[in-house]
Amino acid sequence: MSSKISAAITAVGGYVPEYKLTNSELEKLVDTNDEWIRTRTGISERRILKGEGLATSDMVVPAVQEILDKKQMSADEIDCLIVGTVTPDMVFPSTANIACHKLGAKNAWGFDLAAACSGFLYALTTGASLIESGRCKKVIVAGADKMSAIVDYSDRTTCIIFGDGAGAVLLEPNTEGYGIKDSILKSDGAGGHHLHMKAGGSLKPASIASVTNKEHFIYQEGQAVFKHAVKDMADVSYELLQRNNLTGDDIAWLVPHQANKRIIDATANRIGLPHEKVMLNIQRYGNTTAGTLPLCLWDWQEKLKKGDNLVLAAFGGGFTWGATLIKWGY
Ligand code: UT7
Repeated sequence: MSSKISAAITAVGGYVPEYKLTNSELEKLVDTNDEWIRTRTGISERRILKGEGLATSDMVVPAVQEILDKKQMSADEIDCLIVGTVTPDMVFPSTANIACHKLGAKNAWGFDLAAACSGFLYALTTGASLIESGRCKKVIVAGADKMSAIVDYSDRTTCIIFGDGAGAVLLEPNTEGYGIKDSILKSDGAGGHHLHMKAGGSLKPASIASVTNKEHFIYQEGQAVFKHAVKDMADVSYELLQRNNLTGDDIAWLVPHQANKRIIDATANRIGLPHEKVMLNIQRYGNTTAGTLPLCLWDWQEKLKKGDNLVLAAFGGGFTWGATLIKWGY
């Protein structure tokens, strides 16, 4: 027992919509093919949230509800909900605000955090600080994106990658050394022009011209982003291990952002992890932006053992990137 409080993940929840958008269906929308998509990205299908009036909060709510059910916790016990997302229901109020209302979390405050594909890592570090400082006892950190809301389904370079989904974790205080051990987070706005949404913000509010020019969709220069992602996600993961005097042998799992299987392979190679130790669900969900990391934890939760060292790593729009070391607590 030490008196130092760390933030341990004590439950995981997730939600993916039922509808599966397969590669063969995309072949009917744009000039692409299953073989190209699978070999260049590793993706076979992604989930899409269909239905009028459904938004990102409608995926956050079931993910959080799963945690409440598992822990037999009432929504009133949540102190704070942080939602990493770039596809909030609305510019304001925040998706966290809306989700807390839908959950009946009357004692919680919360906010959205926008760091694109690194949203969950940024939010996790922020949530951990609230626990470590003693300010909060139960913080839920979600990563959720309805990417289908901002994907142009006539652009073959982006529509093949992205999907919808949400994951969430509960953070609670721990004094036995489990939980979030270290985090290196980085940001470089010089990369912004390679990956962004041109309109809809205060720079260029929605107008007839912005809609006509398709400026409310993701704009991505794939190769440039790929080049940075492959190097930076691997480098930051390596830096995290070095700083903690660890090698690949000490790591039970790499939990990588699911943007492209080739980026994941490069990171695993750099820190010396065989593919059996790498969580991979990109083939089923595609890139759910802030959703990828908690959805990996959700899919692998049965395999995780108390004391396992996990490295979570992400790279995305901003540019933003980082890596977090976790000692699994249950
Ligand atoms: O999560 C947020 C961060 N985002 C990322 O990390 C994404 C990083 N980038 C990537 O994953 C990859 O760059 C993509 C998957 C987006 C594209 O793969 P790529 O290997 O970089 O392809 P490319 O852009 O270099 O294009 C290669 C060829 C081109 O044809 P030519 O010029 O060689 O004749 C493209 O026009 O593939 C063509 N192409 C396609 N062909 C079939 C591009 N998209 C497609 C497609 N189907 N969907």
